[in-house]
Amino acid sequence: MSAPTFKLVQVSDVHFGGEHREAVEAAVERIQAEQPDLVIGAGDLTKDGALTEFASAQAWFARLPQPQLITPGNHDLPYKGPAEILERVTTPWRRYQARLGPARSVSWRDPRATVVTLNSARAVQIRLNWSKGAVSRRQVREVCAVLGQAEPQGLKIVACHHPLIEMIGGPMTARVRGGTAAAQAFAQAGVDLVLTGHIHVPFVHPYPFLDGCTQAVGSGTLSVRTRGAPPSFNLIEADAVDIRITALAFERTQFVVWRTWSVPRRCVPKGANENGATEVAPLKV
Ligand SMILES: [Fe+2]
Ligand SMILES: [Fe+2]
Repeated sequence: MSAPTFKLVQVSDVHFGGEHREAVEAAVERIQAEQPDLVIGAGDLTKDGALTEFASAQAWFARLPQPQLITPGNHDLPYKGPAEILERVTTPWRRYQARLGPARSVSWRDPRATVVTLNSARAVQIRLNWSKGAVSRRQVREVCAVLGQAEPQGLKIVACHHPLIEMIGGPMTARVRGGTAAAQAFAQAGVDLVLTGHIHVPFVHPYPFLDGCTQAVGSGTLSVRTRGAPPSFNLIEADAVDIRITALAFERTQFVVWRTWSVPRRCVPKGANENGATEVAPLKV
């Protein structure tokens, strides 16, 4: 891989209130040192949606480089106690928005990348398990409208909390209502990466749709709620030819490379393919 032209950090599932204190502290130092172009917070930033947890999350993100895009997870809603349940039903995102910004979709764009968030968490659902995700057709239309304005040669990235299709062999499920339709729509729109959290294990796998070049990218957790992988976050670097995803895991006092994936860009600009990589045809939609 040549020198990356775009670098972003993907963190999720910090779960303040149950954060891994040493890892969270070391992550600030490492992320600052990486000097990313963008920091993504892919939800579950608190443990129980408590006010003190949101204050900790806000203080932590304030120490990370700007710009940042943050989107909520299923834990970022109040639920512990009758007053909290009432608040969850009436003003579900009040706490989140007071500390971490809009819960709706927000976007960031420059010539190298267009990034859009999508809130896949729900305050109330017509099913027993409210921790699972949902994506409406309207949300998909809104995200695709933003992506339609993207630079043709730039990366297209969507960030939400729940994996839209299940991670095969993962330690838990997301069961996102509307997830498969959303994933298909994003593949059709030429999305390169769909960044998610929730599983607490880093992964990369291609969506089984169209050209297979839309990659589902999960980040791990920076909490003590690990599920078979150490506390970690993702570093994502792209040049004109490849995208490299590195899961950095906390080991004793520092972050070390846990696993790296390299995937080809969907569309390689003419003349950029200098290192023998196979040239990929642009997606026809
Ligand atoms: Fe989580
Ligand atoms: Fe979650």
